[in-house]
Amino acid sequence: MADTVRIGGVEIKKTAILAPMASVADRAYRLICREFGAAACVSEMVSAKGICYSDRKTAELCTVTPGERPMGIQLFGCEPEFMARAVEIVLEYSPDFIDINMGCPVPKVAGNGSGSALMKDVGLAAAVAEAAVKAAGNVPVTAKIRSGWSGDSVNAAEVAKALEASGVAAVAVHGRTRDQFYSGSADISVIRDVKNAVKIPVIGNGDVTGAGSCLKMYRETGCDLVMIGRGSYGNPFVFAEIEAAVDGREYVPPTVEERMQVMLRHIRMIVEMSAKTEPFAMHEARKHAAWYMNGGYGSAKFRARCYQLSSYAEAENLADEFINLQSGRMHKKSAEISLD
Ligand SMILES: Cc1cc2nc3c(=O)[nH]c(=O)nc-3n(C[C@H](O)[C@H](O)[C@H](O)COP(=O)(O)O)c2cc1C
Repeated sequence: MADTVRIGGVEIKKTAILAPMASVADRAYRLICREFGAAACVSEMVSAKGICYSDRKTAELCTVTPGERPMGIQLFGCEPEFMARAVEIVLEYSPDFIDINMGCPVPKVAGNGSGSALMKDVGLAAAVAEAAVKAAGNVPVTAKIRSGWSGDSVNAAEVAKALEASGVAAVAVHGRTRDQFYSGSADISVIRDVKNAVKIPVIGNGDVTGAGSCLKMYRETGCDLVMIGRGSYGNPFVFAEIEAAVDGREYVPPTVEERMQVMLRHIRMIVEMSAKTEPFAMHEARKHAAWYMNGGYGSAKFRARCYQLSSYAEAENLADEFINLQSGRMHKKSAEISLD
């Protein structure tokens, strides 16, 4: 397995990259994941038409800070003219690549012909991609697709070939159809079919949660890169685990204390980067706090309490309580073992 893959002029280590996730993978999230080894990241999706008409949220969504690079800005839209204009606008933010969303299943996006709806119209998908490629000049354009619209119209390989012909530099494939949304499990054989159909790099995506499933994705699909979404919830450490596995190093998972330190730093970043007051910024931060507490002793109760947090100081107290409970459990367990 080569160590890196090239997407246009961008060289990316063949570990795992962070998936675009609207309302989740914001700047704080991307910076933390990059710090733990995500090989690249992608912005939350931005409406191509939206930024052509209003620049209200463009800077907030499209600014790329040094710690996030290599980073792509993701656009969604189904009109080639708006896509081209939007690409020109986002180029001002100097993204390392531009990604086109052809996988979003939500009615607000797919109902308007964008996102995964483009899987149903291969000609239009290719035209949107071609407009973006022309407008982007030297900046590579990638596309993120699903396996198809529905179980009886799995056409990812056909779509990928059309996108390749349009000049797209890489294609990410989520192995689910639009009809599946996020249910069931990803069918990685579709990713293998795409890999066999095109020459551009293929990025495998769907249900990767650790080194085992990441290496399986590489092995069974032949993909050039792996992309992780939900497996990084409260778990940026997944990228360090994967990097260690790829490099053949031993991986030591974080202690509860380390996990809580990262959680608190993540929350502090959300609060500091937010234009909102602390209590409102904490609304955004709550779910992340809860995710970092997954899997611990009594974590269901702690997660519920995370959804009540309205200040950073409260999060600090809750993290202390969580750590004390976990270490109390460990002492109790080791006392039980020594009594045996
Ligand atoms: C909360 C959430 C938001 C998402 N937002 C986007 C998005 O903005 N653009 C996109 O292409 N995919 C988006 N996705 C899809 C993910 O990028 C990814 O394809 C999907 O979650 C499957 O990968 P996973 O099993 O590793 O999570 C989103 C997924 C989730 C769960």
